[in-house]
Amino acid sequence: METTLIILKPDAVQRGLMGRIITRFEEKGLQIVGCKLMQISGDLAATHYGAHKDKPFYKGLVAFMTSSPVLVLAIRGNGAITIARNMMGATFGSKANPGTIRGDFGVSNSFNLIHGSDSPDAAERELGLFFGKGEVLPWNRGGDNWIYDMSGGKVE
Ligand code: RTP
Ligand code: MG
Repeated sequence: METTLIILKPDAVQRGLMGRIITRFEEKGLQIVGCKLMQISGDLAATHYGAHKDKPFYKGLVAFMTSSPVLVLAIRGNGAITIARNMMGATFGSKANPGTIRGDFGVSNSFNLIHGSDSPDAAERELGLFFGKGEVLPWNRGGDNWIYDMSGGKVE
């Protein structure tokens, strides 16, 4: 089981798309194990997107991410990191395929609605940045026996 960090960016919150995006993850069978509305500080945005600090879009990206509240989610499931990235679609809304979150809800390249961790290392680092101790709750989901095949003693 993996847990990944998802951020519904300021455009998703302002456009009233939080519920529809969360519904997609729930319908897929992924589990919401953390959820918090917050305003990202300049320092946190800089740490989170530190890998991009020399890119031309960096300044605008930090300004965007700190401009209005975001909804941060911890989402759990077997293969959750890759599944969530595939559900998000390509980085630019203009290029993302229909059926993906970015492809269905946006046309902008910079305002692309959603962030998702891109590797297990990134997920661990980013979950630690956005959630404190006790804020991620891997609760027992009653329906898991119908979401996963556990008959062979492992999650399939
Ligand atoms: P994210 O980190 O937010 O999940 O997005 P990503 O992996 O798909 O894309 P990444 O290359 O990590 O870029 C981070 C965010 O920077 C903005 N961006 N703008 N205008 C541009 O050329 C440009 N390129 C990237 C996007 O908001 C992107 O999600
Ligand atoms: Mg990225």
